[in-house]
Amino acid sequence: MSIILDEEQQLDAAADDTYRALIERLSRQSVDKHFDAYADIAWDDPEMRIDPADPRWELFEDDPVGRTDWYRNLPQERRAEIGLQRIVTAMKIGVQFESVLKRGLLEFAADLPNNAPEFRYTYHEVIEEAQHSLMFQEFVNRSGFDPPGMPWDMRLGSRFVVQFARWFPPLFFLFVLGGEDPIDYTQRRQLKDHDSHPLLERIMRIHVTEEARHLSFARHYLRREVPRLGRVRRFVLSIAAPLLLGEMAAQMLHPSPELVTRYGMPRETLQQVAASDDARRFVSDSVGKVRRLCVDLGLVTRLSKRIWVRAGLWEHAPARA
Ligand SMILES: [Fe+2]
Ligand SMILES: [Fe+2]
Repeated sequence: MSIILDEEQQLDAAADDTYRALIERLSRQSVDKHFDAYADIAWDDPEMRIDPADPRWELFEDDPVGRTDWYRNLPQERRAEIGLQRIVTAMKIGVQFESVLKRGLLEFAADLPNNAPEFRYTYHEVIEEAQHSLMFQEFVNRSGFDPPGMPWDMRLGSRFVVQFARWFPPLFFLFVLGGEDPIDYTQRRQLKDHDSHPLLERIMRIHVTEEARHLSFARHYLRREVPRLGRVRRFVLSIAAPLLLGEMAAQMLHPSPELVTRYGMPRETLQQVAASDDARRFVSDSVGKVRRLCVDLGLVTRLSKRIWVRAGLWEHAPARA
């Protein structure tokens, strides 16, 4: 049987084949290279032990809190404890964020037709995120800290995000990128620039390896779906992207309330951290890939660009003299 397709249909069919091949390749990679939170991490090895006074937990100069005079003048053991507390808080937030991802991915998969390549891929991603959450929570449990993680309003808001996955998947996958891209950027920088405690190093290496697939899927999904959206949905996405990323960036910039109350961080230091050019530049750089994607997809309009700028996510903060 021969079907004559016009040129546009042929192009669409070729794009469909390329997209399908990519998703299938990601699924195969999930089988070839994946990790188990307990089989692949030597938790009980003596060198993996967590000692809160270990100087390897100390914050580096490139951390917004780590570079403050207040922090640098603390005793060594206190500096290490604060560094560990920051890592543990980030891991607890990671567990909560990944819980939203997993629930959203399952909602997304529930509506897929039979033979959709995304179904298998999505389940691989859910399994990988479950392994990540196991390793993050195990680290939290062994640390001796009891961090609450996200503030209550973010936890409440995250329930709505799960619903996007069913009725507006592109918005959900923008949220995914907004959370995963800055974490990936931060972990890659840490692995490249610093020697970490071996347990933290192992966890980060496992995470960046598997996150590369998650980021690739979210980007390709958005590149395929956003151009097919109607004007109203594109408008909503253009506004929602900088709002979502701005909210997440604010979380990165501001030290957790526990850090302020438990260790008595002075108000001036808190202000110094939030106003730091370097910290703002770091946050702006960490969303660089999502920002470029939004530009490519035509989601940065004159109106939405103002929100990007106001959130401090558009251009680098001026470099220090
Ligand atoms: Fe993850
Ligand atoms: Fe992920």
